[in-house]
Amino acid sequence: MRMANANIERPEGAAEDWTIPQNWGAYTPAEHAMWDQLFERQAAMLPGRVVQEFIDGLDMLRMTKPGIPDFDELSERLMRATGWQVVAVPGLVPDRVFFDHLANRRFVAGRFIRTPEQLDYLQEPDIFHDVFGHVPLLANPIFADYMQAYGEGGLRADGLGAIENLARLYWYTVEFGLIRQGSDLKLYGAGIVSSYGESLFALDDPSPNRLGFDLKRLMRTQYRIDDFQQSYFVIDSFEDLLRQTIETDFAPLYDELRGQQALEVATVLPQDHVFNIGTQAYAKTKEIA
Ligand SMILES: [Fe+2]
Repeated sequence: MRMANANIERPEGAAEDWTIPQNWGAYTPAEHAMWDQLFERQAAMLPGRVVQEFIDGLDMLRMTKPGIPDFDELSERLMRATGWQVVAVPGLVPDRVFFDHLANRRFVAGRFIRTPEQLDYLQEPDIFHDVFGHVPLLANPIFADYMQAYGEGGLRADGLGAIENLARLYWYTVEFGLIRQGSDLKLYGAGIVSSYGESLFALDDPSPNRLGFDLKRLMRTQYRIDDFQQSYFVIDSFEDLLRQTIETDFAPLYDELRGQQALEVATVLPQDHVFNIGTQAYAKTKEIA
């Protein structure tokens, strides 16, 4: 997620809306090679695990060609598909700036790429996470509408003091969502599909809970920013996710949630639709270590 509370200062050189030029010509051969290495590893592993719409997006946007994508080129194709653009920002941006970009169909992305030492872990999302992880699904009309609706909802949540609740929706869908397709679960969250380790863990490992999507429940649930998730939430379809987001009146939900305690990351409630209850073995091992 690329947002932070409103107190951060706009870096020098960033425009009023916090964007900066991507400066594509400045990437070194080593940086392009880093992208290719990450891309090839994910592209070899994801088919059959990731939702088909993601693969379609990669093809449609011609993201399969080597090297770090040029945002201008990417935006041109994306604009034709769904009216979205990709713009570069220097780092985290304030909540309102983030939401405003989404509401106007602009996806804000970092322009730096991780170093070989950061292959599997980095704190701040880089261009591989932002572009490989997020952009392919923006070529899907339904998901594209969901992202815009999310941005509009964010601007409203800000006025209602409910950003924390709404941020959890982003986390458990856009970043770490699973989707049901037939009798299988597939990946679609950008935080998963841009991570080799979590792409395996989220689908195959017996540790995490896999629970049915429930809008209100999910906005009550804490999440992990430091490691693999302990619960994943499964949507039925992008159509259903979009419909629920558009049709729900969030203000009364926020009121209700204000009086309730947040749920711990591994909680399973009696009313949850359970795909599987995790052993939490992975998280327990980490606690001992
Ligand atoms: Fe992200």
